[in-house]
Amino acid sequence: MMQSAFCPLNSASFHVAIIMDGNGRWAVQRGFPRGEGHRQGSHAVRRAVEAALRLGVTTLTLYAFSSDNWKRPMSEVNLLMSLFYDFLRKERKQCLENGIRLNVIGRRDRLSRSLRAAVESAEAATAQGEKMLLRIAIDYSARDSILFAASRLDGSGDATRENFAQRLAEVNHAHPAVPDVDLLIRTGGERRLSDFLLWECAYAELVFLETMWPDFTADDMEAAIREFHHRERRFGALPQAATA
Ligand code: FPP
Repeated sequence: MMQSAFCPLNSASFHVAIIMDGNGRWAVQRGFPRGEGHRQGSHAVRRAVEAALRLGVTTLTLYAFSSDNWKRPMSEVNLLMSLFYDFLRKERKQCLENGIRLNVIGRRDRLSRSLRAAVESAEAATAQGEKMLLRIAIDYSARDSILFAASRLDGSGDATRENFAQRLAEVNHAHPAVPDVDLLIRTGGERRLSDFLLWECAYAELVFLETMWPDFTADDMEAAIREFHHRERRFGALPQAATA
């Protein structure tokens, strides 16, 4: 339906990243335990993936668990980990049918053995997917990954943005490496980046929504992409009219 209208700038790549915030507040506002917010949040993930695919997004990166989220109560951490596990096991068929390639970015050494196996198996099973890359950030910290990548520089002084980005991709298990974020959406009413894709969002357009993540719909995604298309992206240069 609206797909052609949103075909992203006629370019090959359109990278949308989402900070899925507000699960806990959504639940508390309704008198539910926080976990219910996360459960409903995983349904919103499915809606977001479907909408992204329909709207011509080529890479969708979702912030599911930050490295700082380990500070949460063990029961909440365990619930989140089991939701990730279920998602990777259950969504694999949908991904295969829809040409979606899965990639989990972030650290892997602190994930349970079973979750790590589910990650590797989902990635291998969907590796041929060419319509959209769905990246889920788990145990992810932009600052840590920048630090790890920087510590791998060899000191020869020939670092470039391109080869640093490549190192960042390596430390995050980001395969394939993808272009920077075009549009960053954050739900839940807060206006901050919370250590998400700091390097890759250098020129991202930011859209902040009051909607709590469990209420996120395809309409919200369409509206955010529409807003993106109204922005003028100059990447530090002058507006086109000024150079004509
Ligand atoms: C932030 O909301 C959200 C998280 C820390 C977890 C995100 C997880 C999901 C959306 C569900 C499962 C995901 C997948 C990929 C299957 P918050 O709990 O910090 O919200 P609050 O600010 O209202 O407390």
